Amino acid sequence: MASAGAKGVIPPNLEEEILRLKREMNAVILAHYYQEDDLQDIADVIGDSLELARKAAETTADVIVFCGVKFMAEGAKILNPSKKVLLPDLKAGCSLETSCPPREFKAFRDAHPDHIAITYINCSAEIKALTDIIVTSSNAEAIINSLPADQKIIFAPDKFLGSYLNKKTGRNMVLWNGSCMVHERFSEKELVKLKTAYPKALIIAHPECPESLLNYADHVGSTSSLLKFTEQNPGREYLVLTEPGILHQMKKRSPNSTFYGVPSALDGGACISCNTCEYMKLNTMEKLYLCMRDQSPELTLTPELIEAARKPLDRMLELSKAITSTAIAKPHA
Ligand code: 13P
Ligand code: SF4
Repeated sequence: MASAGAKGVIPPNLEEEILRLKREMNAVILAHYYQEDDLQDIADVIGDSLELARKAAETTADVIVFCGVKFMAEGAKILNPSKKVLLPDLKAGCSLETSCPPREFKAFRDAHPDHIAITYINCSAEIKALTDIIVTSSNAEAIINSLPADQKIIFAPDKFLGSYLNKKTGRNMVLWNGSCMVHERFSEKELVKLKTAYPKALIIAHPECPESLLNYADHVGSTSSLLKFTEQNPGREYLVLTEPGILHQMKKRSPNSTFYGVPSALDGGACISCNTCEYMKLNTMEKLYLCMRDQSPELTLTPELIEAARKPLDRMLELSKAITSTAIAKPHA
């Protein structure tokens, strides 16, 4: 039976209806690894931030439906201004984005006139417009290494990713004081308990985690890099220090491995699902259907903002051409 929600009747055959709307609209559905399993399963492409930005830049679809957070959908709009970009829930923000308001960031830039600004893609379009080069967790190290050794750099908004990159590249970038609320709250105590219980388990971590956690890791990398590492080392146990949405693809690709999420410090380690990203999880199949049916919420930006924010994104795409994609794309996508 169809159910009636706040925005009208939700059909029982949601998946079929989404696919029908997708064909009618000539749309492509892009999903990040932190989305709910059913959203990942219906998407045309599942990837990390770099892979999804690349796909958004090159798609021939008329409409981009972004199952991710707002800064990702904004990126798709900036790279493809003539296309309609839909996001199932416009409230899908990001704590890193919130931690970096444009006025304060402009003052930070102005206070460092001889520095260039490198900014993590997890920021607003306004911050991108004030930036020289955008990076993601999969290309940041290579892009920073490609710059002259004496180039002075300010880095925003993630202080943990910034300090990890300083360590890896030997730079001394001046760091903005922002963080991802999901990655900073993993419990070190629970991680140690799990490692004691599963001594053979490999620890894999996203570089948005604090250094105290990264120090335990056998492998550090973007979501795609973590996924690739688990595929290259099958039949193992893993303790995973990133948002647990990624476990869906890890389990699919490595059925003979065992994956354990690491609990958050917030609740004394009582539950693993407490460490989900509440913004990523705002998107649901129902909201995906409704946004495609109503062609709303649509992501819009002024042409001036798009023009200013595009330059540092184009620079990122240019500078990361050598990085191969491991995105999961359906054959037609
Ligand atoms: P990546 O998928 O690019 O590693 O980014 C992780 C993240 O936090 C996205 O919000
Ligand atoms: Fe932002 Fe962290 Fe959520 Fe990614 S996981 S969207 S960085 S709050």
